[in-house]
Amino acid sequence: MTRLTTCVDAEAVAVRAAEEITRQLNLALEQRGSAHLALSGGTTPGRTYELLASSPVAWERTDVWFADERCVGPEDEQSNYRLAAESLLTPGGVPTSRVHRMEGELGPERGAHSYAEELRARLPVDDGELPVLDVVVLGIGPDGHVASLFPGARTLDAPETAICLGVEHSPKPPPERITLSLQMLRVARCCVLLATGAAKADAVDAMLGEPSSHVPASLLRRERLTVIADDSASPAPAQR
Ligand code: 6PG
Repeated sequence: MTRLTTCVDAEAVAVRAAEEITRQLNLALEQRGSAHLALSGGTTPGRTYELLASSPVAWERTDVWFADERCVGPEDEQSNYRLAAESLLTPGGVPTSRVHRMEGELGPERGAHSYAEELRARLPVDDGELPVLDVVVLGIGPDGHVASLFPGARTLDAPETAICLGVEHSPKPPPERITLSLQMLRVARCCVLLATGAAKADAVDAMLGEPSSHVPASLLRRERLTVIADDSASPAPAQR
């Protein structure tokens, strides 16, 4: 069952999300001595990352990965890595040895292949041989995309063993990206999905409805999904 928390506004979403991510990371550290966190980009999670930077997480034992990246350099203003570096990695003192950047500058296919190798080398695997992340932070597009998995895209039909995929024609600019596969999001121990603003209300509602490749967020593993949304992005009470 998906956990849905509604908050009064975007700031309350960020506070709640930072608390939940901190809780999940500390659970992983307590149970396994390590924690693997993957971050998304976009405009929603920045404030959460700022609050995470001063949260009680043992960053020296926590590895930071990415759910997706644009095929740009790390200094580019479109870079998800740059967003994370400015809001969390630098202010939070996350050791560079613990940060695993998706190398967008390699391009979609080479970048995806390289990242899959690094994930395979560093993470424990599940019985299906997929690397297991502890916490994945996701936003959601108005079309229901998560990471760079877009409605009806071929990436949604990737083999069960797919770890990381190249995206050539993203409907959300820039067109070339690297993304974790849907399978990777589904084997992660927990996905924390943030949604703020009325523009996301239909996508959140569709995510909680019937699973469909037209709404990639609806294909996430429901029992491992925590949605934290403000009132504007939350479905009307009757739909909950
Ligand atoms: C990206 C993000 C993407 C984002 C959603 C929501 O690289 O663009 O990872 O998946 O989370 O598009 O974006 P906003 O938070 O800007 O609405």
